[in-house]
Amino acid sequence: MNNPFTRRDGLKMLVGLGAIASPSAKGQAQNAAARPPLVAYFSRTGNTRVVALQIRRAVSGELFEIEPAAAYPEDCRQTVEQAKRESDAAFEPPLKQLVQNIAGHDTIYLGFPIWGMTAPPVIRTFVARHDLAGKRLVPFSRRLRGRPKPEHACAPRTACAD
Ligand SMILES: Cc1cc2nc3c(=O)[nH]c(=O)nc-3n(C[C@H](O)[C@H](O)[C@H](O)COP(=O)(O)O)c2cc1C
Repeated sequence: MNNPFTRRDGLKMLVGLGAIASPSAKGQAQNAAARPPLVAYFSRTGNTRVVALQIRRAVSGELFEIEPAAAYPEDCRQTVEQAKRESDAAFEPPLKQLVQNIAGHDTIYLGFPIWGMTAPPVIRTFVARHDLAGKRLVPFSRRLRGRPKPEHACAPRTACAD
């Protein structure tokens, strides 16, 4: 069954909530140019990256890919097991790099796939390693359709939803 909630609906919703600056608001636009929103995302198989690129275009933001210093295994099930171990231990996997100018962004769009019904461990690292005090944080995520059980985590990409 098709999901009637499209990506366009999601972006409209964010604009409605004021999370995305209206392009007609001159002051906001000037501010966005001077202090562009940051669109930071983690994506293992590319789904979250697609949304991150759309948001980056919609808000004229700067893109930052959150990457673990040591990549997760190619094998999805091994990744599931590793992620579970890391989450259980509240481990913060080191990142390949940090945002150099985090102070230059007032709004941060933070994107990630849902892993084990929550954010992946690298997102914990990202939040812990940057000073986000006073910033507007706009999370977005991709997940599987419906109410997946842990054993469905590696279902085909076509099964993903916003
Ligand atoms: C380790 C792991 C755990 C996952 N756990 C869940 C989950 O709990 N719920 C869910 O809906 N999808 C889960 N998924 C599926 C991903 O959220 C989904 O495939 C997502 O679209 C992947 O985004 P990406 O291509 O940006 O990595 C899991 C995937 C992996 C690899």
